[in-house]
Amino acid sequence: MQTVNRLDLLRNSVSTFRRNGETIALVPTMGALHEGHLTLVREAKARADRVAVSIFVNPTQFGPNEDLDAYPRQLAEDSALLVAEGVDLLWAPDAQTMYPEGYATSITVAGVSENFCGASRPGHFDGVATVVCKLFNQVAPDIACFGEKDWQQLAVIRRMARDLDLNAPNADRIIGIPTVREADGLAMSSRNRFLSPASREAAAALPRAMRDAIQTIEVGAEIAPVLARLHDAILAAGFASIDYAALADAASLQPMENRVEAPARLLVAARIDGTRLIDNMAVYPPAGMNR
Ligand code: PAF
Repeated sequence: MQTVNRLDLLRNSVSTFRRNGETIALVPTMGALHEGHLTLVREAKARADRVAVSIFVNPTQFGPNEDLDAYPRQLAEDSALLVAEGVDLLWAPDAQTMYPEGYATSITVAGVSENFCGASRPGHFDGVATVVCKLFNQVAPDIACFGEKDWQQLAVIRRMARDLDLNAPNADRIIGIPTVREADGLAMSSRNRFLSPASREAAAALPRAMRDAIQTIEVGAEIAPVLARLHDAILAAGFASIDYAALADAASLQPMENRVEAPARLLVAARIDGTRLIDNMAVYPPAGMNR
């Protein structure tokens, strides 16, 4: 695996792949890799000749009181995991390379970025859209793989790629990969490591409560009372607070308040033990409607 941290070296490596007629898949990450990331890498490998992974803890997507400083950084460990997966190229720029002196540009994706994490983390999706657009321009991959765990992020990136007519990758080549879960159902996340053993155990109640809510919604129950019960169940399990527990159209991310009439997503962000966890799951209209 080649590891590069300068843009000219990245471009040389990418040009070499291109000269050989090889396709490239990009897996953008912030490092602290776990099985969820490695699943993205394996999917990328199955879909392209060469796999590039980026590791960059992007400061512009963290708010002033968020966990940028505490975010785990473990390049040597991550690098060993990527070598074992047969990754071809690791792009690991520093902040100065990504945002040099005088840097002044930011991308805002309206609509899809505004609710949920966009409301509870102001500016977060501007940071994500901007850095992902830069990574796409730097690597110019044929495809890019992202985890569905960050469902809203995926929707924002697809919207950005469509709106800006990006070609490398084209919006249709932005692949969402289903969330990888621990044995007890908790979605894998680099932030799970911040939880104490007791909180880690309690956190598994979140996906269980979400599944219960979905079962009830999919047989035709009204959404608001189900969401209220979900809210109570999350707090009763030991979560300290909930940023949102909501149902939204899977594509537009517009909240659904009455009944599910199109494919939807149940989305939750809640805090336990000082750590903010997010999760989301598919919800389909009751049988007989537009499933
Ligand atoms: O999902 C992440 O790890 C980050 O938001 C991403 C897409 C790498 C952008 O920094």
